[in-house]
Amino acid sequence: MAKVSTTFFCKNCGASSAKWIGKCPSCGEWNTYTEEVIHKEKQEFGKTWKPKQQGNTVLKPVAIASVEKAAEFRFLLHDQELSRVLGGGVVPGSVVLIGGEPGIGKSTLMLQIALQFTDKKVLYVSGEESETQIKMRAERLPYRSDHCYLFTEVSTQKIGKALQELQPDIVVVDSIQTLQSELIDSPPGSISQIKETAGDLIRFAKETGTPVFLIGHITKDGTLAGPKLLEHMVDTVLQFEGDRHHVYRILRTTKNRFGSTSEIGIYEMQGAGLRQVSNPSEILISQRDEALSGVAISATIEGMRPLLIETQALVSAAVYGTPQRNSNGYDTKRLNMLLAILEKKCGLRMGMHDVFVNIAGGLRVEDPGIDLGIVAAIVSSYHNIPIDSKIAFVGEVGLSGEIRAVSRVEQRIAEAEKLGFTTVFVSKFNKLPKQQGGVNRVEVGKLEELLSYLFG
Ligand code: TYD
Ligand code: MG
Repeated sequence: MAKVSTTFFCKNCGASSAKWIGKCPSCGEWNTYTEEVIHKEKQEFGKTWKPKQQGNTVLKPVAIASVEKAAEFRFLLHDQELSRVLGGGVVPGSVVLIGGEPGIGKSTLMLQIALQFTDKKVLYVSGEESETQIKMRAERLPYRSDHCYLFTEVSTQKIGKALQELQPDIVVVDSIQTLQSELIDSPPGSISQIKETAGDLIRFAKETGTPVFLIGHITKDGTLAGPKLLEHMVDTVLQFEGDRHHVYRILRTTKNRFGSTSEIGIYEMQGAGLRQVSNPSEILISQRDEALSGVAISATIEGMRPLLIETQALVSAAVYGTPQRNSNGYDTKRLNMLLAILEKKCGLRMGMHDVFVNIAGGLRVEDPGIDLGIVAAIVSSYHNIPIDSKIAFVGEVGLSGEIRAVSRVEQRIAEAEKLGFTTVFVSKFNKLPKQQGGVNRVEVGKLEELLSYLFG
């Protein structure tokens, strides 16, 4: 008989304890311990893995100087966006966790990546959908592959056996929360199950040099479900995000052992799967015939790429005592700050108006460099005077109404120029080299200067 015991796990950080504790000693959270049943008897998950030829599995300590430079090998991806986000391809033996809200397109993305590897054997393990469901989804995608295998199973022991038989080059698991180890009695998705099943798959990846992609659910507050520990265990954590009602999706890295975390990938959800968006600015700026008030174009940086986005504002007389402030895709606290600055420094009576701000395309922007564009859109709507559609804005607004320098301004200006903008408003504190032709730069130091340029 297997010995059965129970252990308490912290829901927040995954720490364990023999008895219930009110406050977790490792992460300091209160009331996070839950009891889970565990079979103590351990079996091996797939005894020994046969290492693959590719990959640089290091078996003994070596001097860092003696490691050959050319040893880095990556699986090249057909998907440029994912490839860039991962830092230039998939590293053998790496484990990538992809999180995102339900319905955002995680399964679609991974299935289409799996189907794009026409020369590699891919095993797509799904605990969420049946074979026919996945087949139906695959039919909609424009990719076909003879080497993509499906396995609808949740038991890691059975998955281990399949991995040994099939010897795939790449493994996708949809999703880690549905997996179940037979050694543990807790239900799938519980902390001990996630720890055990993820641990098994990570061991498989490291021992065979096979890259593994794990799909993970995220909880209501936007963090990955399961203990934070899962994020520490894997090599790369990707977030797939976007507004479900918009077509654009952004793939971000929050952790990457093999590349930078500042890269993003942009996709468009279409009838036939996710399309890579290689020039996002062109689609984020709406094509309009006439100039409208309340619209300004900001040049921002997403990851390493400059991006021009449309910021829209609506300012209307407040009907109720307290004016409404609402923003989509932009921090509301920061919006309140900008409105207070406009009231105090520029004498605009914002306290009497409702203000709504929207970033077009369902994007969420945290870059303070779009402040200037937001202010321009708000004032344009306030006065009901449109801004010339050939003007773009770059700059952060400080508390005293000064326009501050932003990072990588040359790149932003170059992108604006490439898209046919003729004038760019920038901070005069950016210390840009003397202007030589190209787009007309207007350097402003204070909000008042900007407003008098634009609205007289
Ligand atoms: P899905 O990959 O199932 O999301 P997740 O795995 O993150 O829960 O994607 C679900 C949505 O994607 C669904 O609402 C329909 C949409 N979709 C398309 O618009 N086009 C397509 O070709 C596919 C396959 C899905
Ligand atoms: Mg799914």
